[in-house]
Amino acid sequence: MESASCVVELANAADIKPMLAFWRSIPGLGVGRGDTESSLKAFLERNPTTCLLLKINGCLMGTVLGGFDGRRGYIYHLAVHPDYQGRGYGKMLLSRVISQLKDLGAPKIHLFAFGDNHTAEGFYLSQGWEKRRNIQVFSWDTSEDMPPEVIPSGEENI
Ligand SMILES: CC(C)(COP(=O)(O)OP(=O)(O)OC[C@H]1O[C@@H](n2cnc3c(N)ncnc32)[C@H](O)[C@@H]1OP(=O)(O)O)[C@@H](O)C(=O)NCCC(=O)NCCS
Repeated sequence: MESASCVVELANAADIKPMLAFWRSIPGLGVGRGDTESSLKAFLERNPTTCLLLKINGCLMGTVLGGFDGRRGYIYHLAVHPDYQGRGYGKMLLSRVISQLKDLGAPKIHLFAFGDNHTAEGFYLSQGWEKRRNIQVFSWDTSEDMPPEVIPSGEENI
C-alpha cells in the first residue's frame, strides 16, 4: 500500500493544529469540546504509538487516534480526506491502529460513532466490527455540578 508518496506516521504535538483543521473539513466527523490543543497534546503523550497520520505527497489526508487505558483500546477520529475515500486508506489506517493497540495488550477495542453516521456504520460493519446492542453509553460532563454526596446511613466514617 505504501509508496514514496503515501506514508503512515506517528502523530506528534506539531501535528495538532493541522489535525484539527483537517477534522473540521471532514463531513460526519464530530469535533467536540474535548478536541482542544491541550487535551490532544495530553492524548498523544499518553498514546505515543497509536495516533497515526496518513500523508499523501506530504499532505495530511487521514488520521486515526488510538487510546489504551490498560483495559480496553479505543479508536477516535478515523478519517480520510474525501478526495481519497474509497481507495483502501481507511481500512489501512484501521488495521494499523488495531495492530498497535494489540501490541500494547488491548484484548478488545471499542469506538463510538454518532447514530446518524451511516458511512461509519457501513464501513465498520464491512470490516467485521460488531455493532453492540447490549451496551448503553452513559456520559457525565465534569463541568456540571456534582450531585450532592449522600453518605449511606450508618457509614459516617467513609
Ligand atoms: C469511514 C472512512 C474512514 C472510511 O475510509 P475509506 O478510505 O473511504 O474506506 P476504504 O476505502 O478503506 O474502505 C474499506 C472497505 O470499507 C467499505 N466501505 C467503506 N465505506 C463504506 C460504507 N459507507 N458502507 C459499506 N462499506 C463501506 C469499502 O467498500 C471497502 O470494502 P472492502 O474491505 O471489501 O474493500 C471514511 O469514509 C471517512 O473518513 N468518513 C468520514 C469520517 C467518519 O465518519 N469517520 C468515522 C468516525 S466514527
